[in-house]
Amino acid sequence: MAYFKKIEGERVYLSPINIEDAAKYTEWLNDLEITVNLSMPHNTYTLEQEKEALKNLSAEGYNFAIINQKDDQLLGNCGLMNVDLINRIGEVGIFIGNKDFWNQGYGTEAMELLLDYAFHLLNLNNIELKAYAFNKRAIKCYQKCGFKLIGRRREAHIIAGEKYDEIYMDILAAEFEGKIPALVKERINK
Ligand SMILES: CC(C)(COP(=O)(O)OP(=O)(O)OC[C@H]1O[C@@H](n2cnc3c(N)ncnc32)[C@H](O)[C@@H]1OP(=O)(O)O)[C@@H](O)C(=O)NCCC(=O)NCCS
Repeated sequence: MAYFKKIEGERVYLSPINIEDAAKYTEWLNDLEITVNLSMPHNTYTLEQEKEALKNLSAEGYNFAIINQKDDQLLGNCGLMNVDLINRIGEVGIFIGNKDFWNQGYGTEAMELLLDYAFHLLNLNNIELKAYAFNKRAIKCYQKCGFKLIGRRREAHIIAGEKYDEIYMDILAAEFEGKIPALVKERINK
């Protein structure tokens, strides 16, 4: 079996990363339509580099493959970075690499599952993210999850001769409900 239901939603689940997906990730990370929204459109990724990167990401423990519940198809990746367990803060990142699945709520559901994991299993208190100001789809998705705008770094991203602002958003544990608390109580009281 390639994927495992670590955190389950209605249409997607978060699974540990499968290193055998390296070719699919390499395809996505060389696709400018995807990477123009991420911090690495200038990078070139080889299959060998991606195998190594996936190995490292899966060893870190806070990174997940986003899998379609319907047919166990890989849709993308999400994870937590810069986790500080003393101050209980972290940063999230996400991409849906399969573009056929954009704009249908999959990213929002996957991010909510990641927040549920971060707030209720890692016990984090504040999660932040960064997005480019032109990435309206991502910003809308994050707002739907409950993220609030906390700042803006001006002209922090230069691409094709244009300068774009970087947006900063965050969300507190108290602002997020999630499904894990009820699920855990149900299991404990069984
Ligand atoms: C960003 C991303 C994770 C969002 O996932 P998704 O499944 O496409 O997003 P969702 O469908 O859950 O939500 C997107 C929302 O933005 C809206 N939207 C799309 N394009 C928009 C635009 N140009 N302006 C305003 N809203 C827009 C959608 O209609 C949807 O809102 P709705 O549900 O109210 O209709 C995904 O598109 C992706 O991976 N993109 C490429 C990489 C990337 O940008 N990663 C994030 C880097 S910060």
